[in-house]
Amino acid sequence: TLALLLTALLPVMLGGWLDGPQSTLDTKGPVAEAQTGLFYVTLWVTGIIFVIVAAVLAYATIKFKARDSGDEHAEPPPQGHGNPLVEMSLIAASILALVVIAVPTLKGIWYTYDVPEEERENAFHVNATGYQWWFKFEYPNEMATDAFGGETPLVSANELVIPAGRPVRIELRTVDVIHSFWVPKLAGKVDMMPNRGNHLWLQADEPGYFWGQCAEYCGDSHAVMRFRVIALAEDEFNAWLANQKQTARVVEAPEGAELPASFTSYGEFEENQAGWTEEFDADPLGAWRAQQVIDPAAENTALIAAGRHAFTENKCAGCHTVRGHEGAGVVAPDLTRIGARTTIAAGLLENSEMNLYRWITEPHRVKPGNFMYHTRVVPPPGMVIMPGYTTPDPATGEPAEVNIEITDEEAHALVAYLHSLK
Ligand code: CUA
Repeated sequence: TLALLLTALLPVMLGGWLDGPQSTLDTKGPVAEAQTGLFYVTLWVTGIIFVIVAAVLAYATIKFKARDSGDEHAEPPPQGHGNPLVEMSLIAASILALVVIAVPTLKGIWYTYDVPEEERENAFHVNATGYQWWFKFEYPNEMATDAFGGETPLVSANELVIPAGRPVRIELRTVDVIHSFWVPKLAGKVDMMPNRGNHLWLQADEPGYFWGQCAEYCGDSHAVMRFRVIALAEDEFNAWLANQKQTARVVEAPEGAELPASFTSYGEFEENQAGWTEEFDADPLGAWRAQQVIDPAAENTALIAAGRHAFTENKCAGCHTVRGHEGAGVVAPDLTRIGARTTIAAGLLENSEMNLYRWITEPHRVKPGNFMYHTRVVPPPGMVIMPGYTTPDPATGEPAEVNIEITDEEAHALVAYLHSLK
C-alpha cells in the first residue's frame, strides 16, 4: 500500500523539482536530453511491470484469501506446482523487457561518448581539471599573451563560458583525487580520474546560465565543489573571448593619493549583498552580464592600486595568476578577470564585496577543510589548499602565528583590486 501511495505521489514530488537549478529532468541540450530520454524509457518499462505485478498480487490476495467455512475437516485447496507455459512466458517477457531497455541504453552510450562525426569540426574545445575543491577551465585553442610576451592558452576557474548551439568537447583531468564533472541540465556525470584522461561533450541549445557540481565524493568540501556554465550567443561569446585575451587592465593610483582612513563597513557590505542576491536569483545570466561592466566612477583607484601591491607583496601571486600582471602561480585558481565572475570559492558564494572579503580572510570557515590554521593543521605535502590569512589579534595587536599575514586594510584593498579585474 505504501509503495503504491509513493508511486502515486511521485509525479507530485517531482513537479516541485522539475525546474530547479540542478534538475536533470529540465534538459537544455541534446546530451542531457538523450540521458533523460533513457531515464523515461526505463521508468515506463519498469512502471508497467510494477503495475502488472501489483495488480496480479492484489487479485490473488483477494480472490484466494482463506475463508472460514466452519468445517474443521475441510480439504486444503488443490496445490499446483508450476506451469511450464506460464514460466516460459515470464522468462520470454523478462528478456523482452531487458532488450527494450538495452537497445536505447547502448545507443545512448554511443551518442553521449563523443561529438557526432558530422559535428566534430565545429566543436569547441575545453580542458577541465579537478582540484580539491575547484575546477580549472582551459581553452587550448584560444591563445593570449602572458606577462613575458609569450603565448599561453586562456585559463579560467569555476566559470566555464561556452558558445550556445555548438558542441563543446571537454577533456577531463584531475591533479589529486577522483572528481566527477556534472552539469545536470546539460550533461554528465563523467569521472575525472588520476593519471588517466577522460572526456565528455555537451551542448547548450540556447544561451543560459547553468549549475555544475562535482559528483564524486572527494573530501571535506565535496558538497561545495561547484561551478557554473554560461552559454552565450555567438556574437556575445566572441566579444567575451576577445576581452579575455586582452592583458589585464592596470589601474594606477592618482598622483599623491592617500588611502581613505576607514574602509567600507560591514553594514554597507551587507546591504550591497542583499540587492545583489535578489538581482542574481531573478536573472542569473543578466547578473553575469552586469558583472562584466566596469564602472570607473564607482572605482576607488587608490584602493585598487594598494590592493594590487598587496596582491604581489603578500604572496597571493605565488599561487595565483593574473595574466599580464606579476602573478604567475599555477597551483591555485587563475584570477584573471575574477571581477567579472558571478561566483567565488567554486560556485559557493556570489561574487559580492562582502563575500570576497570573507573568503580572503576566513577561507577555512567558508569552505570546510580548506586550511585549519586555528588548529595549526598544515596540509600534507602535495595538497594545495588556500592558506589561512589572518589579521592581527585586536587585543594585543600581535599577529597570529601563521605563515602569511594580512591586515584588515590590505584585505579591503585586495577586494577592490580583484573586483576591478574585468
Ligand atoms: Cu570533487 Cu567531489
